[in-house]
Amino acid sequence: MSRRRSRPRTGPLLRLRRRPPAWPEQPATWRAAAPGLIADALQQALARPSGNWYVLAPSRDLPPGRALGRTVGSREVVVWRTANGRPAAGPGVCPHLGAPLKDGAVHRGALICRWHGLALDGAPCAGWSPYPVHDDGVLLWVRLDGLGREEPTDRPPLTARPPLPRALCAVHTATGRCEPEDIVANRLDPWHGAWFHPYSFVDLTVVGAPGRGGTAAHGGGFTVDVSFKVAGRLVVPVRAVFTAPGPRTVVMRITHGEGRGSVVETHATPLSPDPAGRPRTLVTEAVLATSDRPGFAVTRRAAPVLRPLMRAAAARLWRDDLAYAERRRQLRSTGRFPG
Ligand code: FES
Ligand SMILES: [Fe+2]
Repeated sequence: MSRRRSRPRTGPLLRLRRRPPAWPEQPATWRAAAPGLIADALQQALARPSGNWYVLAPSRDLPPGRALGRTVGSREVVVWRTANGRPAAGPGVCPHLGAPLKDGAVHRGALICRWHGLALDGAPCAGWSPYPVHDDGVLLWVRLDGLGREEPTDRPPLTARPPLPRALCAVHTATGRCEPEDIVANRLDPWHGAWFHPYSFVDLTVVGAPGRGGTAAHGGGFTVDVSFKVAGRLVVPVRAVFTAPGPRTVVMRITHGEGRGSVVETHATPLSPDPAGRPRTLVTEAVLATSDRPGFAVTRRAAPVLRPLMRAAAARLWRDDLAYAERRRQLRSTGRFPG
């Protein structure tokens, strides 16, 4: 069962007074992590609208003068920055004779096909029509109405973030042989944190879950008290809330403790299948860390040093989580998934 605790046990960097229980001796969470509860949260997430928007790449991966190609579902997409710096996107197949536009050259904001020089400035041309695209300053999104088949919206379903000038931002990407729902299901199981990632988390308690008193009190998500491990017995205890604002997104927001207001957005984007026909999904995880501490401005100036460390931490977690997501998909596809 989830234990409910009204006041979070948070504070700045703390040294644990007593050594936490050894990994095999920590309280088991499997009874609380009821498969039906996670499945219900997943179904609710999958039913939420996306407006047909898909995360394409970190904004930083698209500097001016370069084209970027990605196959989302079955759609080959190309994106580049036009002369005003804004992104333009559209089908990645040249409308003339089918050359891959991701290999094109960007000249004065126009994308030029290398085969016969067809130039695209982002407007409809020779049968090529642009896709709606949005750069939120951290992530690039593309709207694919033919793929999503939902009611389209003007903007992606963005969640509140700390203001970018006051945040330290890092984006990690990884690809797994699974479907987006396997990524979302993994993120909607907060109980696995201290068991599966003992190198990062300790003393984890789920204090609210949808349908278990968590719906109203905790914004309809999972509320977790957890300590992030820093080094040895040094930890940062926080309260965090996990919500799924769309069918392919899970957001973790720190609501109490050090870094209050920081968010971690995890987005799952379906890619083209691998050569063996297995589904592939791109995970894009954006960490936007913020803090009220006066010293945080200095920390932000150290961003070039800190970003790789933040990405390395996310990479380690996602190596493990993708292994689970891939296994979940494999079990589902062969009818062996429990529940
Ligand atoms: S194939 Fe692109 S211009 Fe001919
Ligand atoms: Fe995990």
